[in-house]
Amino acid sequence: MKKPLSLKVVGRCSSSKARATDLVLPHGIVKTPVFMPVATQASLKGLTPEQLAELGCSICLNNTYHLGLKPGQDVLDAVGGAHKLQSWEGNILTDSGGFQMVSLLKLATITEDGVQFLSPHDGSPMLLTPEHSMSLQNSIGADIMMQLDDVVSTLTTGARLEEATNRSIRWLDRCIASHKRPETQNLFCIIQGGLDLDLRKMCVKEMVARDTPGIAIGGLSGGEEKQHFCEVVDLCTTMLNELLPEPKPIYCMGIGFAEDLIVSVALGVDMFDCVFPTRTARFGTALTRFGNLNMRHARYASEFKPLEDDCTCPVCRSRDAGGFGITRAYLHQLAGRDTTGAHLLTLHNVAYQLRLMSEARQAIIEDRFPAYVSKFFKDLHGSKD
Ligand code: GUN
Ligand code: ZN
Repeated sequence: MKKPLSLKVVGRCSSSKARATDLVLPHGIVKTPVFMPVATQASLKGLTPEQLAELGCSICLNNTYHLGLKPGQDVLDAVGGAHKLQSWEGNILTDSGGFQMVSLLKLATITEDGVQFLSPHDGSPMLLTPEHSMSLQNSIGADIMMQLDDVVSTLTTGARLEEATNRSIRWLDRCIASHKRPETQNLFCIIQGGLDLDLRKMCVKEMVARDTPGIAIGGLSGGEEKQHFCEVVDLCTTMLNELLPEPKPIYCMGIGFAEDLIVSVALGVDMFDCVFPTRTARFGTALTRFGNLNMRHARYASEFKPLEDDCTCPVCRSRDAGGFGITRAYLHQLAGRDTTGAHLLTLHNVAYQLRLMSEARQAIIEDRFPAYVSKFFKDLHGSKD
């Protein structure tokens, strides 16, 4: 398959599978490991595209299902795609839609044709097929498009899990066959197989054989034990490192807790996304290297210091240094009461996630990643030694 991307490994950890890469996509270079914030409906709720770019974000997510409903394919075609719609010059990755439907709509049913659901607008039956998902993602103009996959809950086992895994492979073939712009848009496959290591092995081999420009690990972050999560990610990255003739970007879907990001980077994953940092901001929680702060708590009412002393985000940065100089006390005042609070916490939380990954990258490049990881966990768990 054609590959409108290039991946250059610029650093490797000598005691884990962590790596730093420069991933060149149609809308610019992405330095990995990278966290991709989620702009479901073509906006990162509360931020302007310019603010997102100023934070150093080079790639964000949109969702095919949501953009397919609104503004719809005709408007996307008329405006010339989602970059123009949202005035975003960076890269866009679109999830294919099935996962959102299954997680959002209780009424979604899956057949070999595709995912059937009732329109949230008028309740009429609709069908998202692999071909339709690809057509929408072609109209969106995503730099990275995800295959439509048959998503089951992470804890599913037995015949249904096997069927979903095999169907995801068949749907990838249909996605590849109907992709109209392989020379400008990268299609990623998604490895499924739940927590069943044999199914995962089978799926990795099948996906590698189809030679897509990048590879995702799906079906995780659904309430499984950490040990099972790690086993699956470890198996997939080890097999990919062995089987791929040259490295391809590896993306673990739906992961956003800082601990999970750091562990997955050590296991060799390059890309992540999750609604957690932005959603939790809207509920009043700030992410910091010493743990998460619920800004509604009364203890912050008289803390006249930034969320994090050394944070370089516009919220925490002092006014002298060109920032907003926002204190914890002010965020406490706003939290849950004013959209300004949600906006400021979203800015800080996205900056936190991006910085976490760029610090990990720097540590990998300088081959001090293990020391970085142990400091990260010491800070997070408050150990002073
Ligand atoms: N987002 C989080 N997990 C998944 C998954 O398994 N498939 C898709 N398409 N999106 C996801
Ligand atoms: Zn900050």
